[in-house]
Amino acid sequence: MKRLLKGERETKKFSEKVLNSLNGKNVILLFGELGSGKTTFTQGIAEALGIKERITSPTFVLSRIYKIKLDKLGEFDQLTHFDLYRIKTAEEILDLGLKEYLEDTKTLIVIEWPELVDDMIAPEKKLSLKFSYGEDDMRFVEVF
Ligand SMILES: Nc1ncnc2c1ncn2[C@@H]1O[C@H](COP(=O)(O)OP(=O)(O)OP(=O)(O)O)[C@@H](O)[C@H]1O
Ligand SMILES: [Mg+2]
Repeated sequence: MKRLLKGERETKKFSEKVLNSLNGKNVILLFGELGSGKTTFTQGIAEALGIKERITSPTFVLSRIYKIKLDKLGEFDQLTHFDLYRIKTAEEILDLGLKEYLEDTKTLIVIEWPELVDDMIAPEKKLSLKFSYGEDDMRFVEVF
């Protein structure tokens, strides 16, 4: 079922909901076209985790790490944000340290453009979201 997100604020509120319903999962996969709200959603995750740095799309650096000082739930001590838009083969991802992060349950991993790594991540570790466009500031998200 598609859920409507009316404006950036609703998307960020939704981030917080998702964060609180992870139930032991430590990977969030963000599918969806350019500008559909994946980075905005990640900013909401960061805010909910008390991260003060500004989150931008790591399109050119591929990944960024943010330390978490004050996670209300106490579950995670860092957030790693990947943007794999420019990656062409799954092998390139090995260099990014994703495997190591996957084994560290204290690291929350958020991945934009995750198509190439989807199969590498066990279903019980990941939550997948698909963002899409509506008119103006409307976006839709599907959880699957
Ligand atoms: N309801 C909404 N939810 C999220 N973003 C919205 C919404 N309404 C408008 N926007 C705007 O749409 C843009 C979404 O951009 P964002 O960088 O989050 O997309 P993205 O999916 O990460 O794109 P990319 O694939 O290029 O990384 C932002 O400029 C944001 O302000
Ligand atoms: Mg983005």
